[in-house]
Amino acid sequence: MEKDTRLILALDVLDSAEALRISQVVAGHVDAIKVGYPLILATGLGIITELSRYAPIIADFKVADIPNTNRLICEQVFKAGADAVIVQGFTGHDSLRTSVEVARSNNKDIFVVTEMSHPGALDFMQAAGEAIAKMAADEQASGVVAPATRPERVRDIRNIIGSDLTIISPGVGTQGGSAADAIRAGADWVIVGRSIYQSDDPAAVAAKLVSEIKEVI
Ligand code: XMP
Repeated sequence: MEKDTRLILALDVLDSAEALRISQVVAGHVDAIKVGYPLILATGLGIITELSRYAPIIADFKVADIPNTNRLICEQVFKAGADAVIVQGFTGHDSLRTSVEVARSNNKDIFVVTEMSHPGALDFMQAAGEAIAKMAADEQASGVVAPATRPERVRDIRNIIGSDLTIISPGVGTQGGSAADAIRAGADWVIVGRSIYQSDDPAAVAAKLVSEIKEVI
């Protein structure tokens, strides 16, 4: 995934025509498109192949299973054309190691969820977030997912993983986070969904986010 605009579109729409239309208009403003259960359950795994003509695809399945099942899931998703898969870290080192092995053998990426962006992440996840970040570095994942809603946590996680791993950071816009703050705290990319795809002019919103990001790098 090339680091250019540093913006990733989270495409949680439920209709393939809409997904294709939005991807086409924002393609020049984003470095990747993140798809997950909402779009894929509504339209099928084939949407990954269709969208991959606009940008690299990150499959946000938050995979959280035993190593063998993680392997089977990652293999299918890479086969469908995804460039990266998001996996949970709380399942531990063996599940992550297997996912990273599959990604490596396909020349693809794994991003590991550390602490999520919503308020409920404080209930259980935050306590494990730093240990998960360390494990992601030890297992040589490509990067981690860290919350733009808490830039101070992005900074903590950056300090743990160093410069070898990348950080993709959701929570900008509708969830209250700021793209500039997340990038300043150490995120490589911000992930933005509703603020872009629910707008009347998704390309203009994406362009504005990119210029906010460019001001702080
Ligand atoms: P919005 O509409 O809030 O969409 O801009 C955010 C997107 O990111 C996903 N999301 C997360 N994914 N760790 C993740 O791996 C997180 O902490 C996290 N927070 C939000 C969300 O599902 C949506 O696609």
